[in-house]
Amino acid sequence: RNIFADRKNSAGINLNIAATRTPLFHTLEQLAGKQWQAAPLVAGKTVSGEQRPVLSPQNTAQQVGTVVFADKTTVEQAITHAENAFKGWRDTQVETRAAALEKLADLLEANSAEFISLCAREAGKLLQDGIDEVREAVDFCRYYANEGRRLMAEPVKLPGYTGELNLLQAQGRGPFVCISPWNFPLAIFLGQVSAALITGNTVLAKPAEQTSLIAHRAVTLAHEAGIPGDVLQLLPGDGASVGAALTADPRIAGVCFTGSTDTARLINQTLASRDGAIVPLIAETGGQNAMIVDSTALPEQVVRDVLRAAFQSAGQRCSALRVLYLQDDIADRVLELLEGAMQELSVADPALWSTDVGPVIDADAQSGLQEHLDAMKAAGHRIIAEAPMPEACANGFYIRPTALEIGGIGELEKEQFGPILHVARFRAKDIDKVIDDINATGYGLTLGVHSRNESFAAQVASRIEAGNVYINRDQIGAMVGVQPFGGRGLSGTGPKAGGPHYLARFITEKTITNNT
Ligand code: NAD
Ligand code: ALA
Repeated sequence: RNIFADRKNSAGINLNIAATRTPLFHTLEQLAGKQWQAAPLVAGKTVSGEQRPVLSPQNTAQQVGTVVFADKTTVEQAITHAENAFKGWRDTQVETRAAALEKLADLLEANSAEFISLCAREAGKLLQDGIDEVREAVDFCRYYANEGRRLMAEPVKLPGYTGELNLLQAQGRGPFVCISPWNFPLAIFLGQVSAALITGNTVLAKPAEQTSLIAHRAVTLAHEAGIPGDVLQLLPGDGASVGAALTADPRIAGVCFTGSTDTARLINQTLASRDGAIVPLIAETGGQNAMIVDSTALPEQVVRDVLRAAFQSAGQRCSALRVLYLQDDIADRVLELLEGAMQELSVADPALWSTDVGPVIDADAQSGLQEHLDAMKAAGHRIIAEAPMPEACANGFYIRPTALEIGGIGELEKEQFGPILHVARFRAKDIDKVIDDINATGYGLTLGVHSRNESFAAQVASRIEAGNVYINRDQIGAMVGVQPFGGRGLSGTGPKAGGPHYLARFITEKTITNNT
């Protein structure tokens, strides 16, 4: 059965076509100075409060808008509304819910320039990253609409050996909390929300505090698409206050979380210690991702893929390459090419089409990454290459893209979420140890392999404990329904986002046996 036969991913926007690019750039210019506003949206109403400035990570002198954070009373009221609205939404035909998500996908496409602009200004994402955000969000909405129909349109009829009629029915669970990160402020935000909605749950959406404006615009479009205001509510705010209050409430029926492994542990503890039902936690978390390159690989292809995997989105992807393992007899050639290519990287304003690497998200991210670089330098690790960093970058949260040499992945204590590439050499006879060392980190998100020896690549793919393995390409940019995405171990609970089993975690099942 081809479960993807009647759906295609969206095409996105091709910036290489002038007739597409010119009007888009014109609209982006018009949006460049726009001031956006975000606030809690509770039962369809905007909640007022203290307006905090939202500043651009690219240049902190530039204000993008303002945000009002939710307080305790707002969170409390939103949960009550979500609880009251639940049964009506659960019992709404899945076709109605699917149609609303498909309408939302159309609205996202129609308003894509706004999101591309916001992604650059609020999240520091490149124009291409912004285009990819919209494309992925659209794909999630349409994919989960279809998957919802498959899972929920009719109860499954099961065998009845004694003349009984047995039906298995999938239903929503209740108010679902969706907590998302800033690095995919539209795609992951709406991926979680659309999955929870299609399965008949009401949603309390808590976006990352750094990217509330994008989330607010997405929720207003969802309401316009027909999703009721009490079914999808928005609660911007800090994780430690709003996120913690939501997850501690005994009335919530599940949590869908994407973010760091540490926060996932905290949420797990909160869920375990609160009153109320035992509820599912879907957690997609961090990675310590490697690429293994053997001596049969093509160096030019390796360097192209390494640049994208390590530095696209300023390395701020959970899937990004952190440790490049090079077989010793190809290492010098690859590093020579890499060094040259890194000199050509344009580190600049993400709103410029020519930019390759933008800023990191905030001052904490910048200082944490810089501390890591300083510590590695102080410990004597050889710097292989550093990209040039223009003076204008001093106005924002930039980190110089850097490649440096280490002995092996075990030397790294934690995920470094930015444009820093660690490189280790290995001898052919040590490949088993390399795989064991990568597995020993406990993370298991992405792995890249470059080799023209098919049996080598197949063996690595089979032995590695990672959720997504990519052979002879880069290891970022999983496509909805094509490369279902998610990790294992410290990298996440599964099931995979954009895959055929994802929705199963958002439902509860009822078996009805009728002795007719
Ligand atoms: P984070 O864990 O700091 O924050 C994620 C979200 O959790 C935010 O909305 C935050 O406000 C909220 N939060 C923080 N503390 C909380 C608490 N005590 N209770 C409830 N919610 C709380 O992560 P981040 O810095 O926003 O994102 C980067 C991390 O996300 C990286 O580790 C990256 O690898 C990971 N990530 C994973 C995936 C994946 O699919 N596996 C995708 C994107 C990002
Ligand atoms: N799904 C995102 C990627 O594959 C995180 O890069």
